Amino acid sequence: MSARPQIGIIVGSTRPVRVGRPVADGIASLIAADGAEPVMLDLAEVALPLLDEALPPASGVRTNAHSIAWAERIEALDGVVFVTPDYNSGYPAALKNAIDYLKQEWVGKPAAIVSYGWAGGAAAAAQLASVLGYIGLALDEEGVQMPFQQGDFDESMRLADPAAFVARSAEPLRALVGRIVAAASAELVDA
Ligand SMILES: Cc1cc2nc3c(=O)[nH]c(=O)nc-3n(C[C@H](O)[C@H](O)[C@H](O)COP(=O)(O)O)c2cc1C
Repeated sequence: MSARPQIGIIVGSTRPVRVGRPVADGIASLIAADGAEPVMLDLAEVALPLLDEALPPASGVRTNAHSIAWAERIEALDGVVFVTPDYNSGYPAALKNAIDYLKQEWVGKPAAIVSYGWAGGAAAAAQLASVLGYIGLALDEEGVQMPFQQGDFDESMRLADPAAFVARSAEPLRALVGRIVAAASAELVDA
């Protein structure tokens, strides 16, 4: 356990060009500015296969190297921010898969959801909150929802200015990071 709280940022989308990564990078900067250590967990890089453990995660038995490595990375965190888009009124399959690999590693961990989409990713955030609540993470009640606006995307359907998109939500993101760092710091003191 390090003296500086380690805050994971899970990038829930895995497409080659994603809104999720610049959003996560912005959150990482805010975490560092708050004196904590950001740990980027980009699911495109983690590249977990579809869940392939024989026993359910609650057993605590992990046999595959990728499962053991993922469990160790989550276990080491003092808090976690989930960054998710809205895909057909839900959150991405890659994110559900990454969550389902583990059980005890998540339980009680301070967590927050940052979502984005045309309605701020509200549907994905609600779905994800339900799952994280079921597992037993200590979920920040507010989260941050980042709505797209007309003109955010260029003719190739790419976000024209990712930095400006993140900057639009700078204040709620800063407040959320403050809450999650405080919760993670309290966990460190209690440990
Ligand atoms: C499979 C898929 C489904 C989508 N469904 C929704 C949706 O239900 N609501 C919404 O607001 N945007 C939807 N979009 C648009 C996304 O919000 C937008 O493409 C966003 O950039 C996706 O996040 P990402 O770039 O991190 O993958 C969808 C995009 C994809 C790729």
